[in-house]
Amino acid sequence: MGKKHKYAVLVSGRGSNLKAILEAAQRGEIPSLPALVVTDNPSAPALAYAVKHGVETCFINPETYRGRKKFGEALIEELGKREIDIVCLAGFMKIIHESVISKFAGRIINIHPSLLPAFRGLGAQKQALEAGVDESGCTVHFVDVGMDTGPIIRQSRVRVEKNDTVESLSARILEQEHKLYPRVIAELLEGRVRLEGGGILFEEVKNNDCSKQGGDMASACLVGVRCRWDGRTRTDPDLFEKFSNGFITPFCPE
Ligand code: GRF
Repeated sequence: MGKKHKYAVLVSGRGSNLKAILEAAQRGEIPSLPALVVTDNPSAPALAYAVKHGVETCFINPETYRGRKKFGEALIEELGKREIDIVCLAGFMKIIHESVISKFAGRIINIHPSLLPAFRGLGAQKQALEAGVDESGCTVHFVDVGMDTGPIIRQSRVRVEKNDTVESLSARILEQEHKLYPRVIAELLEGRVRLEGGGILFEEVKNNDCSKQGGDMASACLVGVRCRWDGRTRTDPDLFEKFSNGFITPFCPE
């Protein structure tokens, strides 16, 4: 058994992902509750979920710690006090200073409501509708210094319907977020996924052995998304159909 990780969830608003994480932990699907919930917004509805589950909360006041650097230093201090080693952003609206990102390299993740690398930044669901795509979804990725650019861990796909509005599409994507994020957090806490040499390693697909993949995992290039290694896109529609729950592992067996 490896070291037991302590994780924090960072929130700014509604907190539906935090709620999903707390409930998954309570059901035993994640090994532990978060050790800390951090916010930059003292009136975030998310905080009520933390309190309900007896999880410590911490407000870092952006007025006191003006600028990303100072805010980042305060964040590192608060995380350090509780020996937090994994950080999960869940609707945290502040851009995180690079000092935090380098301190937690490979241990800081985010969830974004699009199939990255498509539609980075704010209003991802609106961007998807405006682009007229016929599918979108959500992505859990490691955080790097760019905006939603870090290595992709897992994605979940959602069909875009003709009559979709931002609200209806967001709601369907959110449903997937609530399943995907707890799943990835559990994998990270249990050491079943990690960042290595800039790529993602899943315990199940070590040594390029794809036969050990779960039924819902596939090489990125086989399911028709751009391969991060060679930039090529290959599509196999039959294979694509099999991944009805939409999980894609961006792992390249080549
Ligand atoms: C989610 O859509 C998440 O993907 C994005 O911010 C939103 C947060 O929602 N990063 P909630 O606060 O978890 O309900």
